[in-house]
Amino acid sequence: MKGLVLAGGKGTRLRPLTYTSAKQLVPVANKPVLFYALEAIVAAGITEIGIIVGDTREEIKAAVGDGSRFGAEITYIPQEAPLGLAHAVLIAEPFLGDSPFVMYLGDNLIAGGITSLVDEYRELGVNCEILLAEVPNPQQFGVAELAADGRVVRLVEKPREPRSNLALVGVYMFDARIFESVKRIKPSPRGELEITDAIQDLIDRGLSVHPHTVRGWWKDTGKLEDMLEANRIVLEKLEPAREGEASADSRIEGRVTLGKGARLSGSVVR
Ligand code: TTP
Repeated sequence: MKGLVLAGGKGTRLRPLTYTSAKQLVPVANKPVLFYALEAIVAAGITEIGIIVGDTREEIKAAVGDGSRFGAEITYIPQEAPLGLAHAVLIAEPFLGDSPFVMYLGDNLIAGGITSLVDEYRELGVNCEILLAEVPNPQQFGVAELAADGRVVRLVEKPREPRSNLALVGVYMFDARIFESVKRIKPSPRGELEITDAIQDLIDRGLSVHPHTVRGWWKDTGKLEDMLEANRIVLEKLEPAREGEASADSRIEGRVTLGKGARLSGSVVR
């Protein structure tokens, strides 16, 4: 399998942060959010990764490099404009070839990584697997409608009147059949080739789309509150570590990580 990470886009909802920096490089607990995605993909055993880049390509390239620090081999795929998630798939075809792939939105964070999901996708042998999570505000997401037997019936992008509270999480698995779909669909009223329309096309053509409902937390860090919440969650899970030195008159309280080489003298950290 290959990986496709989307790190283009405009990032309008994360302004003013994204006036000066790519939104995928905004740090969560001191680490660019994009790095969590790359680490999760490599942990799932996938090392050939394509990254879709837009206006901020130089910045992303400077941060990620050739991928060797992640144990990955990175191919950068320039997108001329943010023409939609399905457009990103369309332009990645020469890189992906006939390999199944996991597509990961570069500003999403998912608890527990994606290894078990990738394994499930491989075992099921379906054409596509989507991740769903219950949300209180489905109007702001791609929303899935399931039949009584659990099959996906319909996917709608940001519906005004959602038929369920199941939002699409930003990780998808596809095989090469998706390329026919991204070529068949037309741009939406907002001018983008929508991945929801492409997956709907798979369903309409009778191909298999498996929905997996995510129980742990996930965050689309595209908005400021979500970014802050993601920081809180990740920091909450950090194990305290004491690799540096603290003098006898120093005090360390609570979940503190004292990094290697750090020296604490006569102070209190909490
Ligand atoms: P979005 O959050 O849907 O879009 P955006 O980055 O344009 O943000 P905003 O709505 O705040 O203006 O994108 C999800 C991820 O996919 C994000 O990491 C950017 C990336 N992306 C692309 O790489 N190409 C695209 O054409 C689009 C639409 C998004």
